[in-house]
Amino acid sequence: WPFFAPYVRAINEVKRQRNAVILAHNYQTPEIYNCVADVVGDSLQLAREAARADAEVIVQGGVHFMAETSKILSPDKTVLIPDSRAGCSLAASITGADVRALRASYPGVPIVAYVNTSAEVKAEVDICCTSSNAIHVVESLGVPRVIMVPDQFLAKFVAARTKVEIIAWHGACEVHERFTAEEMRRFRLDDPSVRIVAHPECPPEVIAESDFAGSTAAMIDWVKTNRPGRVVLVTECSMADNVMAETPDVEFVRPCNLCPHMKRITLPKILHSLVNMTEEVVIDPDVAARARRSVERMIALKA
Ligand code: 13P
Ligand code: SF4
Repeated sequence: WPFFAPYVRAINEVKRQRNAVILAHNYQTPEIYNCVADVVGDSLQLAREAARADAEVIVQGGVHFMAETSKILSPDKTVLIPDSRAGCSLAASITGADVRALRASYPGVPIVAYVNTSAEVKAEVDICCTSSNAIHVVESLGVPRVIMVPDQFLAKFVAARTKVEIIAWHGACEVHERFTAEEMRRFRLDDPSVRIVAHPECPPEVIAESDFAGSTAAMIDWVKTNRPGRVVLVTECSMADNVMAETPDVEFVRPCNLCPHMKRITLPKILHSLVNMTEEVVIDPDVAARARRSVERMIALKA
């Protein structure tokens, strides 16, 4: 804490001067999540907050596609990302040209993009989804067949829970694809009472071994509501640190898969970003306007 404290104080001070808010994803490290963030949450919650934020500047504690989503929804605000190299293997797996080619191959089939995509991809699709609303978004379209990009595992997760036929792209999250069913079975062998809570970006055989699967916010809610004695959060490692602080009665078993992109965001970089107003997220206005339609169509859907 003595090391973090000067940064925390300085960030909160500059934040006030700049009329800025910090939106932090659930995977941000505890000192960001607890000490400087104004809003914390999953991708959907952060997208909603970006749209209603009463501030001139948004600093995204998260990866580049999240900062782009904030800019898409708040075109008049300055959106900063403390390290623009904070990418995402899912977002990197598909381009706007790939989506246009899919549309040509499947004429008339609507395309749903996970928010883990670039603005360019969001601009080409019909609607966005997050891991917390993907089934609802797919079923809201009222058609027998839907294309889902870019996460093959989220697509399989949805396909197993709806009658709608899902055509999937082949992307994967480099953090969640590493978990295995064998690992899950070992957790249960070590302690048969352990509860396993997984993110839908995990492979289906991992989901099959879990007690619950949902977005990062849904996973947190599940732990807070069910108060298991011991739990494994099958997702990015920092989330357990963040939930642990609020559930001291729960013991967390820690497989530690870190997202290298999320971990690029640090207190010193947030301070640097606020002081120097860097790195600003800029999106071509035409692309942003088309991408906004897809994101707003998702946000407008009732939960
Ligand atoms: P959530 O929308 O569940 O927070 O997931 C975002 C993400 O990048 C998970 O890896
Ligand atoms: Fe992308 Fe996976 Fe990192 Fe989430 S955890 S930002 S999906 S690489």
